[in-house]
Amino acid sequence: MRPLVIAHRGASAAYPEHTRPAYEKALADGADGLECDVRLSRDGQLVLMHDRVLDRTTELRGPVSRRSVPELRGAGVMTLEELIELARGAGRPVKLLVETKHPNRYGKAVEQRLLALLRRQGLDRPRAGEQVAVTMMSFSPLAVRRVRALAPTLPRVQLLDLIPPGLKPSRLPFGARIAGPGLELVRRRPDLVRRLKARGNDVYIWTVNELADVDLVVGLGADAIITDRPAEVRNHLLGGVL
Ligand code: G3P
Ligand code: CA
Repeated sequence: MRPLVIAHRGASAAYPEHTRPAYEKALADGADGLECDVRLSRDGQLVLMHDRVLDRTTELRGPVSRRSVPELRGAGVMTLEELIELARGAGRPVKLLVETKHPNRYGKAVEQRLLALLRRQGLDRPRAGEQVAVTMMSFSPLAVRRVRALAPTLPRVQLLDLIPPGLKPSRLPFGARIAGPGLELVRRRPDLVRRLKARGNDVYIWTVNELADVDLVVGLGADAIITDRPAEVRNHLLGGVL
């Protein structure tokens, strides 16, 4: 079984991150899933944005949390609802990995809004016949715990950029069954993936863009590869035969 290929912020090496063209390209590339970061707008909608402020990726300035969706749309920012619609239009199974960013101005409201949206869309739990399957991710264990309370059967990824002091490296907090270590952490702790998997966890590794690193994480047993270059990674995993 090859690992899943998840497009990080869309096919973000080819198109600007978190934009419609980046996600359309990822779907056309055959990515198994789409990754996105979500933040709350001033008018309470989840929008796709990595940074707290808009400066790096749009022509607007300042915090996302102070702008309304109409303003953000005008700057090319997508809502999560629009991404769900895009994924549903793919006509094939698509995983949607939604990362909630913390700390942020609205705190737990981000997970509450996420679950409200997923419930409205019928995506708050795995469902037979549903093409879009959502997985929640966060670096914040409290956010992961909140989602467990709100939607116990929704898959959750505990993202890790380091092993928090006091945490056993193979034991995930609050019942998450998927670990999301960064590539740098995996390099520093080559035993980590094996130990996580030995405890029954799946392991999704980010952000893997070089083919030598793809080989490395495949060798370690990664269950998913989160990459800015889904076409190249998928092609490599399929042995160069598209
Ligand atoms: O997929 C996990 C990865 O996206 C976490 O890091 O900074 O790219 O959101 P970041
Ligand atoms: Ca992310």
